[in-house]
Amino acid sequence: MAVTWFNDFYKHIADSPLSHWLEVLPAQIATWQKEQLHGDFAKWVKLLNKLPDISTNSVNLKDNVAFGVSSEVTEYTQKQITGLLKQFMPWRKGPFHLHGIHLDTEWRSDWKWDRVVPHIKSLKDRYVLDVGCGSGYHMWRMLGEDAKLVVGADPSQLFLMQFQAIKHFNPDPRIHLMPVGVEQLPELKAFDTVFSMGVLYHRRSPIDFLYQLKSQLRTGGELVLETLVVEGDEQTVFMPGERYAQMRNLWYLPSTAALTVWMQRVGFKNIRVVDVAATTTEEQRATEWMTSQSLVDFLDPNDHSKTIEGYPAPLRAVLIAES
Ligand SMILES: C[S@@+](CC[C@H](N)C(=O)[O-])C[C@H]1O[C@@H](n2cnc3c(N)ncnc32)[C@H](O)[C@@H]1O
Repeated sequence: MAVTWFNDFYKHIADSPLSHWLEVLPAQIATWQKEQLHGDFAKWVKLLNKLPDISTNSVNLKDNVAFGVSSEVTEYTQKQITGLLKQFMPWRKGPFHLHGIHLDTEWRSDWKWDRVVPHIKSLKDRYVLDVGCGSGYHMWRMLGEDAKLVVGADPSQLFLMQFQAIKHFNPDPRIHLMPVGVEQLPELKAFDTVFSMGVLYHRRSPIDFLYQLKSQLRTGGELVLETLVVEGDEQTVFMPGERYAQMRNLWYLPSTAALTVWMQRVGFKNIRVVDVAATTTEEQRATEWMTSQSLVDFLDPNDHSKTIEGYPAPLRAVLIAES
């Protein structure tokens, strides 16, 4: 089932610094639509099409992501929306507030945003890329900071659906999610700010990943990088076994000092560690919208400073640098 969500984006960037993306993106998306769609994709699109159209002037992107108020809908419609959105579970990143419905996600992603936003350059009128954006929670917050255009890149089709479901309630033309991985991005050298949060530790080649992020930035553009780190000096890089806090696919957890050296080697300037915070079981927990196990189940029950595998518990850092 082909969708036309991306056509507006192509038009939007035709006369922008991102126009070179059009040399590869439409062909990549066409291949994706033909060959790579998830088995549930057609079902998901049908569900999206059932979401009721409700217009609202109430849009809050400043201190949360809230579209509409409960008085604009009946209780029946609220139940209908809730039932449809629950079919896109698990909802991991949020929360979202839609016409009085509190979509309480596994993560309080707003807490991460609060740790990041005081340290970044103003996003006003900037072209912004979010690599590994998930369902797009932080992208909405970037829009709330008056970015000119916010683009997410994330290959997860479920997260694309969640993003489109949220966008249904506020179809703003300045925000788009492209279902492509970082490795598919051409060297655009065009974004004013590139975010990548929660992705570096999933990359088998973190140095190549840093180069890929750098190649999206214009000279003088800003990188905002958030990732899992460990305590230690410039020589400390930790590689867990098969699983870390039950997560598979985790590769390198550097110390902030080692990560700073990596970024210097790749050519970033003015590198700053602006925040280091342990993830708490209040920030990541099971909810009605993500009912399986969460952080509390992945930590040592007798000692929350360790994961269930005996590794240091999750510690996350935010680094900012210039290209
Ligand atoms: C831990 S989540 C982080 C989500 C969000 N940025 C945040 O900080 O809450 C990691 C994300 O990276 C995405 N991802 C996985 N492989 C990727 C790739 N090759 N390129 C871009 N994103 C990727 C996943 O789909 C997932 O949404």
